[in-house]
Parts: sequence; structure tokens; C-alpha cells
Amino acid sequence: MKLIHTIKELRAELDIQRSAGKKIGLVPTMGALHAGHASLVKLAVAENDVVVVSDFVNPTQFNDQNDLLKYPRTLEADCELLEKEGADYVFAPSVEEVYPEPDTRQFSYAPLDTVMEGKYRPGHFNGVCQIVSKLFMMVEPDKAYFGEKDFQQLAIIREMVKQMAFPIQIVGCPIVRESDGLALSSRNARLSDAERVQALNISKTLFNSKEFALSHSVAETQAYVEESIADSEGLELEYFEIVDGLTLQKISNWDDSAYVVGCITVYCGDVRLIDNIKYKEQ
Ligand code: PAF
Repeated sequence: MKLIHTIKELRAELDIQRSAGKKIGLVPTMGALHAGHASLVKLAVAENDVVVVSDFVNPTQFNDQNDLLKYPRTLEADCELLEKEGADYVFAPSVEEVYPEPDTRQFSYAPLDTVMEGKYRPGHFNGVCQIVSKLFMMVEPDKAYFGEKDFQQLAIIREMVKQMAFPIQIVGCPIVRESDGLALSSRNARLSDAERVQALNISKTLFNSKEFALSHSVAETQAYVEESIADSEGLELEYFEIVDGLTLQKISNWDDSAYVVGCITVYCGDVRLIDNIKYKEQ
């Protein structure tokens, strides 16, 4: 496995691989890798000849500077995990390498990017599209892998790929959870022991709501989740929305869509956690 810091070296390496007919898989990450990322890399290794993992905390997608400062940076440990998983290249550029000048491009995929995270984190998805499109142009992968935990991000990236005609297959990978249900996230590392226990009520509420939804309306299920989080010590709901899994627009009746997902964002202390559950699978 090679650790690469410059675009020039990355391109030189990948040009050789491509001319040898190798299929390239890309796993974009912001580092602080955990078993969720490992599952993306495993799939990428199984499906491609060469796997590139980018490890870059992208400043343009943080609307909260404090969040950017506190974001964990663990390149050495990340490389150990990636070596074990069989990645071929780790691309860990500096901010100056990626943004030699400010990226003034504006991406707008309304209404996908105006709801949920888009409403609460203005500019976030613009930053995500800036970095992901740059990575796509630098790596030119055949396939790129993203986790379904960031459900809205995945939908927006799929739309960007369609609109910009990137010849890249986007692969969505299921959420990886701890054995007690907590969705894996780099942000979990910031939870205290007590908060880690409190955060469990997020996935528990979502799992219970799936059962509840079988005999209740969308509005009742919405209220069930809101009340359950309100009753959970240490948790503060930012939003919970039951949406069509493709358009991300709220539904009113279960019959409104064949693919229904509940997306939630909750603060546990000052740690912002997201999760989701599929009420109806695609
Ligand atoms: O999901 C993430 O970790 C980031 O948003 C991504 C896709 C790596 C872009 O920085």
C-alpha cells in the first residue's frame, strides 16, 4: 500500500494502472476510520483491481468551524486499518493541495439538498459536492463507495453523477452498527461513556418505530419517534423526517412511496449524530 500526498503522484500511479486495464475503486473518507469504512473498503477490494482510499478532512463541507477543529485526525491508525483491508493507495493531500485557490463552484440539487441536512447545515452539501467531484476528477474511478448512514449525501452524489455525466458507478453500502445497535460514526469517539449509553436510544427508537409503523400512520410514527427522543435523557432531536428514499420529500401516507426511509439527527451532548431506517425497502 502506498501513501500519496500529491495529485501529481496519484495521477501518475493511476495512469499506469489504467493503461494496464485495471479497474479502479474509490472510497472517499475523512479519515478516523472504523468498521463502517472497513466494510466499504472490503467491498471495493472485492469488486476492483485497484482501490484508492482518500483520507481528507474537507474544510468546505463544515459549516461549523468548531466541528472542523474537533474532527478526529488519525492518519497513522487509518493506514494500519487500510493496509489490513487490502487498499492499494491512501490519498491524504493537504488542504492547499486540494484547494490551491478557493473553490467557487456552486452545486445545487434542489430539492434533494434543501431538506433535512441541507436545511440545518447550509453549504454542507455544496462542500461535499466540491470535494467529491474533485476526487472523481483526480482518481477517475470506475466505481465509488459511500455509506448509507449519510443517506442524503448518497442521494445527492448520485444526482451529481447523473447531472455531470461522470462515468462512475456509485455503490451504496449498508449502515454498520455496533452489536448494541449504535450506528458507527467517526463522531462516536467524542461521546463520553455516559453519552455513549444515552446515544443508544437513537437506534433503539428507530428499530421500535419500524415495528410501530406496521400498525400506525406516518403521522403517528413521526410523533412516536419525536416523543421517544424527547423522553430520552441527554438527547435533543434536531429533525426526524419520513421521506421517499429517492426524492427525499416527506410522505403523508405509507402508500405514497414504495421506498420509505426515516432520517434522524440528534444531539447527544454537543455531538451531532445521524442515523436512518428503511420502513420500505427499494
Ligand atoms: O462521508 C464523508 O465522510 C464525507 O462527506 C466525504 C464523502 C468523504 C466527502 O468529504
